[in-house]
Amino acid sequence: LTTRADVLTAEAHPSGPVLDPFGDPDGARADIDDLVREFIDFDGHDGLATRPDDLTARVIVGRKGAGKTVYLRRARAHATRQHDLYADDLQQSLPTTTDIVKASSLYPLSVVTEAWMGLWRAAILRSVVSHLLNNRKFGIGLLTEDEEDLRTRYKAVLGGAHASRTPLSVYSQLTEILVRHRTRGGLDRYLHHRLWEELEYRAAELLRRFPPVCFYIDAVDEEFRHAPMFWLMCQRGLFYQVMRFLRDSRLGGRLHLFICVRDHVYASLFESEHATRYLDPRHIRLLEWDDGTIRQFLHAKLKRLPPEYFAGPGGPSTAAWLGVTEVRNEARDRTERVQDYLVRHTRLLPRDIVVMGNELCREILAARERGQQLRPETIRRVVRVEAGTFGREQLSVAANQIAADLMPGSAAQKDFVELYTGSDPNFTGAQAYQDGLRKKLIEFIETIRDDRFSQARFRRADKRVRAQFEHSSDPMSVLWQNGLLGYVEDGLGEGEAVFYSAADRSSLEVPRGAAEYAFHPCLLDAIRLKGGGPGTPPTTPVRRP
Ligand SMILES: Nc1ncnc2c1ncn2[C@@H]1O[C@H](COP(=O)(O)OP(=O)(O)OP(=O)(O)O)[C@@H](O)[C@H]1O
Ligand SMILES: [Mg+2]
Repeated sequence: LTTRADVLTAEAHPSGPVLDPFGDPDGARADIDDLVREFIDFDGHDGLATRPDDLTARVIVGRKGAGKTVYLRRARAHATRQHDLYADDLQQSLPTTTDIVKASSLYPLSVVTEAWMGLWRAAILRSVVSHLLNNRKFGIGLLTEDEEDLRTRYKAVLGGAHASRTPLSVYSQLTEILVRHRTRGGLDRYLHHRLWEELEYRAAELLRRFPPVCFYIDAVDEEFRHAPMFWLMCQRGLFYQVMRFLRDSRLGGRLHLFICVRDHVYASLFESEHATRYLDPRHIRLLEWDDGTIRQFLHAKLKRLPPEYFAGPGGPSTAAWLGVTEVRNEARDRTERVQDYLVRHTRLLPRDIVVMGNELCREILAARERGQQLRPETIRRVVRVEAGTFGREQLSVAANQIAADLMPGSAAQKDFVELYTGSDPNFTGAQAYQDGLRKKLIEFIETIRDDRFSQARFRRADKRVRAQFEHSSDPMSVLWQNGLLGYVEDGLGEGEAVFYSAADRSSLEVPRGAAEYAFHPCLLDAIRLKGGGPGTPPTTPVRRP
C-alpha cells in the first residue's frame, strides 16, 4: 500500500521515508482517499464496528479524538458512490460563538433547548429547499410550477434561500437566521410561523421524487471552548431535532441527517427531562475505545508501518518496532512491557496512538541517521512529553465542562453574555475566565498530591472542591467522566483502576463508595502529582469488569 504521503515523499527523496507514518491525527484534515484506505475495521456490534453503509447510524458520539469525524467522512464517502442516495458535502463552517451566545441568551434555561430545536429545524428545512431548487446532481429539476410555488409561497420563512441559485448549507442558514432575528419576540414569531408546518409537508412530498438526501453535520467544537454552556445548548438542540426528524413518518425516510457530537453533549442529555422521550439507541453509535480495542488499533497501525521503522524481526509487534521489550521505571523500581507502558500513557484514544506513534517514528529515523538505535531514555522522554500534552488537553476539556455546569442564573447571565458579545472580538474576557477555571482545577488536583488516594481523602477533597466551584458543579464527577479519575474495586489486577465508559450509562456520577481512587497516569506528566515509590505498580486504566 502506498499512501499519498508516500508518493509525495517518494517524489522528494526517491527512497525517502514516509512522514507521519501513523497518519494524520486530525480526521478533518486527512485526505479522504487516505482516510478510507487507512481505516481500521472492527468486528462486533458496538459503535467502533459501524459499517460505512449503515444508514441507521445517525449520531456518532465520542470523546475528543475518538474518530467521530473519520467515521462521518467515511460514511459520506460511501454514500457519494451510491446512485440511490444524494450525499451533500460535509458541513464544518460554524456560526460564530457570538451569534450562538446571543441567541441562547434570549431564552430562559428551561426553554432554550426547544428554541435550538426550532432553529435547527428551520435551518435544515431551508437548506433542503435550496437543494431541491438547485439540484443539479440528478438533472431531475423540479417542475416549474413547484419551483415557483416554493420560491414565492414560502418566501416569508425561507429568507434569502427563496432566491438561491445554489444549494446552501445548514450552517449557513443557521447563521442567516441568527443574524436576521435578534430579539426573542422576532425569533419566536419566525420559528412559529404557520408556514413551517406546510413547508415541512411540501418538502417531504417533493423529496419523494428524489433519492434520499443525506446531510452530514460535524458539530466541530473548535469554538466550544470559548463558550461551553452555550454551545452545549445548541448541540443538544441539534441532537433532539435529528431524533425528531427520524420519527417523522414523512420526512424520516427521505432526509437522512448524520451528525457527530462529543460524549459530554450526549451525557448531558441524560440529565434533562427530555431524555427518555427523544433518545433512540438504534440510531446512536458510541465510539468507545478500551484497552483491547486500542491495542488492536496499535497493532493494525504497526502492520502498515514500512519495514524501515522496525528495529528488529519478530513481526509487527511493539517490541520489534521500538527495539526493546521492557521499559524500566526508576521511581517505582520496576519494569513493564513496552506496549503496556505506551498504552497506559494514552487516554485509550486513537488520536493519542497516532500522535505518539508518529513522534516515536521520527525519533527512530533521527537515531538511525546517527547510526544508532532508539534508546530507552528517548522512548520514555517521548512518552512523558506526549502524555503531558494529553493530560493538559483533557484538563482543559474538563474545565470547559465545569464552565458549562456553572451556567449562571438569569440575573448573572447578562454579565456572562457580555463576556462573549461585548466589544472584545477575541473573547479575552471569556478566555481569562476559562483559564481561571482550568488553573483552579489543576491547583485542586495538586492539593491531593498523590496519584492514588484513600476514600477518606476522596471525601474531604470532594467536599472542598464543590465549595470551590460554588456547589453548581460536581468536579469529581467531571474528572471521572473525562477519564482523569478512576477507582479501585475488588477483583482487579495489580495497579488496575476502573475508568469511565460512556457505554455504561449508569455511571455519570463518580462512584463515591470505593476504597481507593487513582488519577490517570498522564496527569503525572501534566501537573505536579506524586507517583508511588519503589515497588508500587503504575496505574493501568481498565473498564468496569
Ligand atoms: N477506525 C479507525 N481507523 C483508522 N483511524 C482511526 C479510526 N478511528 C479513529 N482513527 C484516527 O483517530 C484520529 C482522530 O480522529 P478524528 O479526528 O476523527 O476524531 P474526532 O472524534 O473527530 O475528534 P475531535 O473531537 O477533536 O473533532 C485520527 O488520526 C483518525 O485517523
Ligand atoms: Mg472531529
